[in-house]
Amino acid sequence: NRIAVLKGGWSPEREVSLNSGAAAAKALVEAGYDVFEIDVNRDLGQRLAEAKPDAVFNALHGQWGEDGCVQGLLEIMGIPYTHSGVLASSLAMDKQRAKAVFEDANIPSPFGKIVTRAEAAGGHVMEPPYVVKPNAQGSSVGVYIVRKGDNRPPAELTSKEWALGEEVLVEKFIPGRELTVAVMGDRALCVTEITTALAFYDYEAKYAAGGSKHVLPADVPQDITERCLDLALRAHNALGCRGVSRADFRYDYETSGEQLYCLEVNTQPGLTATSLAPEQAAHLGVSFPALCAWMVEDASC
Ligand code: DAL
Ligand code: MG
Repeated sequence: NRIAVLKGGWSPEREVSLNSGAAAAKALVEAGYDVFEIDVNRDLGQRLAEAKPDAVFNALHGQWGEDGCVQGLLEIMGIPYTHSGVLASSLAMDKQRAKAVFEDANIPSPFGKIVTRAEAAGGHVMEPPYVVKPNAQGSSVGVYIVRKGDNRPPAELTSKEWALGEEVLVEKFIPGRELTVAVMGDRALCVTEITTALAFYDYEAKYAAGGSKHVLPADVPQDITERCLDLALRAHNALGCRGVSRADFRYDYETSGEQLYCLEVNTQPGLTATSLAPEQAAHLGVSFPALCAWMVEDASC
């Protein structure tokens, strides 16, 4: 079985994807696959047509790799690929449209609305505290919290260099704790709590050494664990996801009586050996090579 690992690309999450791709490729070699890596560019179709892999392991993150674009190319080429298909990828990548799906499925999500970047920059478009984020990016790139008492929106929104899309999601800030659950097929794995010493779990906290800590399993009441697992699986299914995904939650244990809110589903969760989803799999006895091998066997188009 010849497997092409797609990595890199040209989204703001390129560096994260290079790490995911290298880790997955190494794991697949350990699992006995014949593997080659492709640092994705606009000539991807041509390279795949020449290389003719039996399946693609998609280790891309963000725009083009996670939003249904690459998935569409692979569908047309008839190459089986890992993770979610076209529709689920597009829906999950669009945070506001994913919220509509969650609402339909009775999965609580913070109130949010789409505004233009100019509107978000012009003044408060929602009562603080609220969160401003690009509607279709990952890894907390371009995410800002506007706190009570802040008298203006984040200055970055007015930057000429802003390349994170003109659709901005403003979302009610949910106080409390950050929880995440990976789903593998029809099974929600575990609940991890993410704690950070920084102001919030931003890009730096996610990827700088010591920027955040994973508490696995999360030290939360048993019924919260069960509800969180259930919501993650329901969110995965409501969006029509396949293979591995990861749902991120806020757990508000103070103001609204033990409420869980789903922030988003990541259809291409980080995949280094120490990333959240592989960590949960390992906790349940599924090694990283076994996880990657399972994803390849689950691939389809
Ligand atoms: N967007 C990053 C890779 C994640 O969700 O893990
Ligand atoms: Mg994400």
